[in-house]
Amino acid sequence: MFVVKLAFCVALPIAQPTPQSPDGWSERELKIIQSLSPSLQAAPLPASKSNRVADNDDAAELGRLLFFEKSLSPNSKVSCATCHDPKFGWSDGKALSEGVGIMDFNAPTVLNAAYTQWQFWDGRADSLWSQALQPIESAIEMNSSRTYVLHQIAANEKLRQAWKLVFGDLPDLTDLARFPIHAFPPKPNPEDPFGVNNQSSDPRHQAWSRMTAADQELINVHFANFGKAIEAFERKLITGPSKFDFFAAGLRGGKAVGDEVFSESAQRGLKLFMGKGQCINCHFGPNLSDGEFHNIGLPSPEGAEPIDQGRPDGIRELRLNQFNGRGKFSDAPSWDDNQHLLYMFYNEHTYGAYKTPSLRNVSRTAPYAHDGRFADLKQMLEFYSNLPGEPLVGHREETLLPLSFSQQNITDLISFLNSLEGERIPARLRAVNIAQ
Ligand code: HEC
Ligand code: HEC
Repeated sequence: MFVVKLAFCVALPIAQPTPQSPDGWSERELKIIQSLSPSLQAAPLPASKSNRVADNDDAAELGRLLFFEKSLSPNSKVSCATCHDPKFGWSDGKALSEGVGIMDFNAPTVLNAAYTQWQFWDGRADSLWSQALQPIESAIEMNSSRTYVLHQIAANEKLRQAWKLVFGDLPDLTDLARFPIHAFPPKPNPEDPFGVNNQSSDPRHQAWSRMTAADQELINVHFANFGKAIEAFERKLITGPSKFDFFAAGLRGGKAVGDEVFSESAQRGLKLFMGKGQCINCHFGPNLSDGEFHNIGLPSPEGAEPIDQGRPDGIRELRLNQFNGRGKFSDAPSWDDNQHLLYMFYNEHTYGAYKTPSLRNVSRTAPYAHDGRFADLKQMLEFYSNLPGEPLVGHREETLLPLSFSQQNITDLISFLNSLEGERIPARLRAVNIAQ
């Protein structure tokens, strides 16, 4: 009897949290906190088997040079960094991104992108290397082409040397009859997968169709290499621990860190995030994202045209993409290494669904949502609070309920989201006993 009573006394404070106190975390909450932040070390990166140079340092250095290289776009004004600028949290601070033209989408950060399988809001790329090929040939992004990029690398001494270190000499591209300055195939059309009606009038497409199959393949092998170097660089863009991570580490060590690291408001925000707010249903794991696709039901004015169908379009494009993990340019094309491609499905519930973004460093990448409609976090949270209107495409996921947050709730959630910035906090604030 005595033993039972003692056990009861010990268990009680854990089972019944008091919301305001730093020790007031239930067992469930403590478990979730540790799952969001298992360690002060960055989580290990998932392997990128389809890219043999994913973890090669020379490839990362080459990728860095290419990422910032404006001459890869024919107007010499646009590089990857135009829209993924370190100054704006590796995004661009704009609602809709602007390259050669204005895009329909908000630029996600590339920080920590290496943790996710699916790239783009609709997940139409299954690796970072194949993702990197698409902005090159998009008319509104860089308006370039695979042959143009390789010609530019060949013409630039520094890039050519950096390339050689990783992939050996570039092939000789000087015969412009064989390797036109601008040539690339049209994007496969999901409505016409065999391209029977694919008679493009674009001279760059026509130049491609005149190349021999062997020359096309040679260009494709090296275009894939270009993407693989960029991926090696992006795998280095991982953030260090945030204030929230120091807080979680403090709990692991049995010591709460002070309010100056993780304020009471942030603590209340975290509680809401894991509890009533239900954010944790989709924003979970060390990257605060399930890496999957949901329709949160962003409303649009009547008569507006949908941008696209979301995830179903992404799946249809990815299946036809010759640079997917199963394709001949992948370094690990077996089904075993590409099980993610087996389990892609869409139905009426995935129309209008977009990828759950990571919330790490989210305070640096306003505006928000796939179309950049929310200028700041307050607007984003007011949307979750009220869930107004109906989406143009598909339907809002039924698990989402309007939660009528108070202004205090919103302030607290924002404090928590602000605590997810991966900057190293000053040493004087780190003077706590932190268990790794
Ligand atoms: C003109 C602006 C622009 C340029 C240039 C650009 N991007 Fe992007 N990037 C975007 C936008 C907008 C999206 C989201 C588009 C979508 O999902 O359809 C995106 C998506 C991405 C993603 C996916 C991130 C995620 O979480 O899904 C990565 C990675 C990325 N870009 C890397 C690059 C690289 C590498 C380059 C250069 C080869 C590049 N971008 C060039 C605007 C740009
Ligand atoms: C049903 C899954 C789901 C739930 C629950 C959910 N989110 Fe999201 N969240 C998403 C998806 C998907 C997007 C992107 C939607 C889009 O742009 O179409 C998103 C976008 C966001 C963004 C914008 C990030 C950016 O970079 O643009 C923030 C911030 C955010 N959510 C925070 C929260 C918070 C806080 C909660 C709880 C109140 C929450 N989410 C609940 C799935 C969810």
